[in-house]
Amino acid sequence: MNIGLIGCGNISDTYFESQNIFNNLKIVACADIVQELADKKANQYNTKSLSVENLLNDKDIDIVLNLTIPTAHKEIILKSMEHGKHCFSEKPLAMNFKEGLEIKELSNKKKLFVGCAPDTFLGAAGQKARSLIEDNSIGNVVLGTFNIMSHGMEDWHPNPDFFFKPGGGPVFDLGVYYLTQLVNLNGPIRSVIATNATASNERIITSKPRYGEKISVETPTTLMGTLDFYNNSKIQFFCSWDIWKHTHSTIELYGLEGSMIVPDPNYFGGEITISNKDSKWEKILTNEMLLGKPNKEDDNKLVANYRGIGLSDMVNNIKNNSEFRCSIDLTLHVLEIMEGILESSKNSTLYKNKTSCKRPKFLDEQEIQKLKI
Ligand SMILES: NC(=O)c1ccc[n+]([C@@H]2O[C@H](COP(=O)([O-])OP(=O)(O)OC[C@H]3O[C@@H](n4cnc5c(N)ncnc54)[C@H](O)[C@@H]3O)[C@@H](O)[C@H]2O)c1
Repeated sequence: MNIGLIGCGNISDTYFESQNIFNNLKIVACADIVQELADKKANQYNTKSLSVENLLNDKDIDIVLNLTIPTAHKEIILKSMEHGKHCFSEKPLAMNFKEGLEIKELSNKKKLFVGCAPDTFLGAAGQKARSLIEDNSIGNVVLGTFNIMSHGMEDWHPNPDFFFKPGGGPVFDLGVYYLTQLVNLNGPIRSVIATNATASNERIITSKPRYGEKISVETPTTLMGTLDFYNNSKIQFFCSWDIWKHTHSTIELYGLEGSMIVPDPNYFGGEITISNKDSKWEKILTNEMLLGKPNKEDDNKLVANYRGIGLSDMVNNIKNNSEFRCSIDLTLHVLEIMEGILESSKNSTLYKNKTSCKRPKFLDEQEIQKLKI
């Protein structure tokens, strides 16, 4: 299957490079509304550069890889299907749940597939944590917490505006990794109750090239609350870009027989920490496991980054006519929860989800080996 990439910005290098990791990814063309960006990436990665319109009309392209900014996601996904192509999109699927429903409707009507990031839950840490839970290592999960705390994106991203607009914020931008990981580990979510805060209505860019420019903040930068899962467990969350320093960990799950700390789901690897009610904490390393071995530098650290596995799994399963993991049902459910968190936070009322989904299939080593170069 031939892939056409739209959106040649920051994250596009990771996807171009994923062609060297997975054997079924072939990016045959790229496009961007800024033509020079597409030309530059095409030259760098030895592919052809097209206009967005020509890429969509190219009969040789089967799947569009949508790496545009969140406000353009729905338009590019719908256009891809209108041109007879499947689409895999970067997260979030769309700006809101209503847009997500429109995407699902067209996907059903056209019998074309839509997949969506994040795929990080398919990494060694997410899959190992899942097998530990299924092996009853901590008993049934009854409670938990997750924390996303930092001071925002204006210090590193060259165009950080979208992080502070509707469709951005800590839940849509980063919460999406945690919520997807939690659905993988703990199943779908029934309802949410939340509250919000915004410490500052303006952000000043300190990254280059727009150093000193101001961004007006149009979506809450802190959201806190509780998720109620269909398995009756409750998980408390604190997502904020208003915090300089803290000592919380990422995801903690508390079961009837023990506890587990799951590493940052923005990455594929990391250390799982687990304890049984009668034992001390034990560390489980994932850095020698498939999709856990550190392979890319991030912030002067070597981390596991296998973005592209979700797309590779989608390509493989379209060919075999079977279910892929980063499915429209999973991503739509997570999109609804994210919107539910924001909705609930407006007046702290309970938001009941209309969607649910199956937990994505476990990804075993044999399957990964088949997709690897
Ligand atoms: N940067 C990261 O580390 C990262 C990590 C994971 C996911 N993502 C997600 O990937 C997506 C892209 O992020 P990014 O950081 O690369 O952003 P970016 O702003 O660097 O790049 C987006 C590109 O899309 C292009 N674009 C915008 N609208 C378009 C349209 N209608 N048609 C064609 N091209 C269009 C822009 O010109 C730009 O080059 C976002 O949804 C983001 O949430 C980013």
